[in-house]
Amino acid sequence: MTFLVTMLLVGRTVQTAVRRNLCRPFSASKNYLHERKGLVLGVFEDEGEEGRLHLTEAAAHFNQSVSGRLSELLQISGPKLKKGKSRIFYGIHKDFPCVAVVGLGKNDAGVCGAENWDTSKESIRQGMAAGCQLLQELELNTVEVDGCGDAQSAAEGATLGLFHFDQLKSKKKTKVSLQLHGSADAEGWEKGITYAEGQNLARLLMEAPANHMTPTAFANIIEEKLAPHAQRVTINKRPQNWIKEQQMGAFLSVSKGSEEPPVFLELHYNGSPDGKQPPLLLVGKGITFDSGGISLKPSPSMDAMRADMGGAATVCASIVTAAALKLPVNIIGLAPLCENMPSGKATKPGDVVTAKNGKTIQVDNTDAEGRLILADALCYGHSFNPRAIVNVATLTGAMDVALGSAATGVFTNSNWLWEQLHKASVVTGDRVWRMPLFQHYTKQVTDSQLADLNNIGKYSRSGGACTAAAFLREFVTAPHWAHLDIAGVMSNKDEIPYLRKGMSGRPTRTLVEFAASLAHDG
Ligand SMILES: *[C@@H]1O[C@H](CO)[C@@H](O)[C@H](O)[C@H]1NC(C)=O
Ligand SMILES: [Zn+2]
Repeated sequence: MTFLVTMLLVGRTVQTAVRRNLCRPFSASKNYLHERKGLVLGVFEDEGEEGRLHLTEAAAHFNQSVSGRLSELLQISGPKLKKGKSRIFYGIHKDFPCVAVVGLGKNDAGVCGAENWDTSKESIRQGMAAGCQLLQELELNTVEVDGCGDAQSAAEGATLGLFHFDQLKSKKKTKVSLQLHGSADAEGWEKGITYAEGQNLARLLMEAPANHMTPTAFANIIEEKLAPHAQRVTINKRPQNWIKEQQMGAFLSVSKGSEEPPVFLELHYNGSPDGKQPPLLLVGKGITFDSGGISLKPSPSMDAMRADMGGAATVCASIVTAAALKLPVNIIGLAPLCENMPSGKATKPGDVVTAKNGKTIQVDNTDAEGRLILADALCYGHSFNPRAIVNVATLTGAMDVALGSAATGVFTNSNWLWEQLHKASVVTGDRVWRMPLFQHYTKQVTDSQLADLNNIGKYSRSGGACTAAAFLREFVTAPHWAHLDIAGVMSNKDEIPYLRKGMSGRPTRTLVEFAASLAHDG
């Protein structure tokens, strides 16, 4: 695991060095590298005249600089360029031997009430991702990207689109360095890069195999990522004996089946200029591998359970991003990290364990372990008097059945918190959808033969995402709490066009945007 950590950190340098060596025989001068530069430009669909293209400002400027060759070539290659479709033109500009032109759809689409996102921003993310991926396939080292009038979205699309987890492969995709084309909105561009790098960090943590991404390795990587922000950040990697002292019996009951020691990771980001401001508390489920325990999962797709720490990954990546953005807000992050494994020491169905707040839990299904580790983390988190609590977890398969990968399910006792999260998600396009916290579900988890609570609902499969949320609520007394079930959005096949296949790192950007909005609210 140390090997991986090192590799992740130095990967860029090593790759660059290798590439330079490989290039040397082919090029007498630096010219060869210089020539491997690409450009991605956007084109809108014109509202009025059928088939007429409407170039972005940068594309129009480029068209001028090549005496109209760009619009000529676009006409020749077919006058229409539908949203997400692209063309590559070779040799039309001396600085850019390869130019990818991507369709962005209608210019003034804006926020769509039915879709709950900003269609323009999504189109720009999608378009710039597609263009950058094409140029990456051509093994270009440097790509300049059209800001498309929204440099943040362009940077997000480009950075998210290029991410690919190949740290453990000998053959790697070309490392592309991105630059904003022209000088428009450099600040928005940088912000977009930071947001997307945050999500990419979460993707990396989730995608990495469980034998590399152990609780200890996870905590070490987050520590290293936060090292540049040491002035505003404190990190505690709480070991097993601390967890015992804290009487986190529910968390311990999950971790004890594994040989891998648990870690309770605690991050404090102090960004508020007024140090006394109550913190935002983020809590992430950190099961680095979920076999199901004695209630063993079926073998097919069990490998995906390396990403069962997606809550911890998105929460910690959000805090790394908040620190990079220097958001003027205080955030505390908690991540109970452990494996859920079957063994002679593992918790058995029907066992009763005691959580930190004294409530007893009958564990009828050892695969419903996320709610157990979160229960103790939520109890502990209340001691910081947070202004809001948001916990994030790949909690239930039922969440995936309900909404699929379209949106994160939000269960909350606070309309204010719902509105903040929803507003943030419209901006990022990484959507949320409100789910119920009815007493109806509470009754189904408080009906236990042996204990105060049962860790699965009375009618097991029915409303599984909702009974899990009702269970967590038993460990919450704060007025502004939200539980985000991210099981449905954990991985991407091809649903989100600007993310390649793999673990998604969702909804990191929504969490960051939400934290940023709290900062502005003061
Ligand atoms: C591209 O530039 C040429 C020459 O300056 C101009 O005639 C043409 O209208 C431009 N095309 C577009 C779509 O703006
Ligand atoms: Zn499980």
